[in-house]
Amino acid sequence: MTPEPRDSAIRISNLVKKYGDTVAVEDLSLSVRPGSMFGFLGPNGSGKSTTIGCLTGLLDPTAGHIEILGRSFSTESADLKRRMGVMPETLGLFDPLYAHEFLAFVGRMFGLDEATTRRRASELLEALDLSGTSKTLAEFSTGMRKRAAFAAAVIHSPDVLFLDEPFESIDPAGAALMKQWLRRFTDQGRTVFITSHVLETVERLCHEVAIITKPGKLVWQGDITVLANDGAIHCDGHEFRALEPLFLHLTGERYADLNWL
Ligand SMILES: Nc1ncnc2c1ncn2[C@@H]1O[C@H](COP(=O)(O)OP(=O)(O)OP(=O)(O)O)[C@@H](O)[C@H]1O
Ligand SMILES: [Mg+2]
Repeated sequence: MTPEPRDSAIRISNLVKKYGDTVAVEDLSLSVRPGSMFGFLGPNGSGKSTTIGCLTGLLDPTAGHIEILGRSFSTESADLKRRMGVMPETLGLFDPLYAHEFLAFVGRMFGLDEATTRRRASELLEALDLSGTSKTLAEFSTGMRKRAAFAAAVIHSPDVLFLDEPFESIDPAGAALMKQWLRRFTDQGRTVFITSHVLETVERLCHEVAIITKPGKLVWQGDITVLANDGAIHCDGHEFRALEPLFLHLTGERYADLNWL
């Protein structure tokens, strides 16, 4: 019998990832409850993409333990990976292909039958305004590439979805559609783990947030739904009514007066 999670869809314990001598993530532990739209925030270079890489099998952790859907996860966990979707920072597209060929390849990789793959690929491409083009992925615009990577992340209808900066370069209509899908996704009890620097979007979309600083150190985790209901978050004796001041308080504001600028 497949063990199902009781209290967490993702559990990270003492995760460490080094690139040679560079420590990108140092002893990160956190857990994400099933059905959560979880925002994973931190400054540039703080270890978000590295953590997503480790959580999805794209990178081998240096140390630590990862559980997905209640089961121990490693780069070898093929059956668990089929229940996960990922849109990595680097997108992971296969440039020489047309979008429908790429989605067919991804669908097969996830074990979908041919008819389902073909139907879902054409529905996704139509909805994301990518159908009817004679361009290969290499010829797509930045936002079109992002849309194709999103389609590849969701085509197998995963239970846990990892999205690294999904809305960056996506136009407002595309972003609104993706957010609508993601909300339905979590309403069904599935889990979304998302990084973004656009804190207004995170505030409106996410239920819970973790904030890290370099190198992958958790400095705050909590429910942020209070903010949408005009409530406040209390931290270090301060009251925060929005995510941005909380983020700046925890990660440090910077001022530099360049008199020539
Ligand atoms: N392939 C790599 N080789 C060496 N160092 C790397 C590599 N990838 C990332 N790093 C380093 O690991 C640290 C964390 O990088 P990471 O990309 O995880 O940050 P991030 O939080 O995703 O940043 P951003 O907000 O800019 O996307 C940084 O110090 C970065 O320089
Ligand atoms: Mg990143």
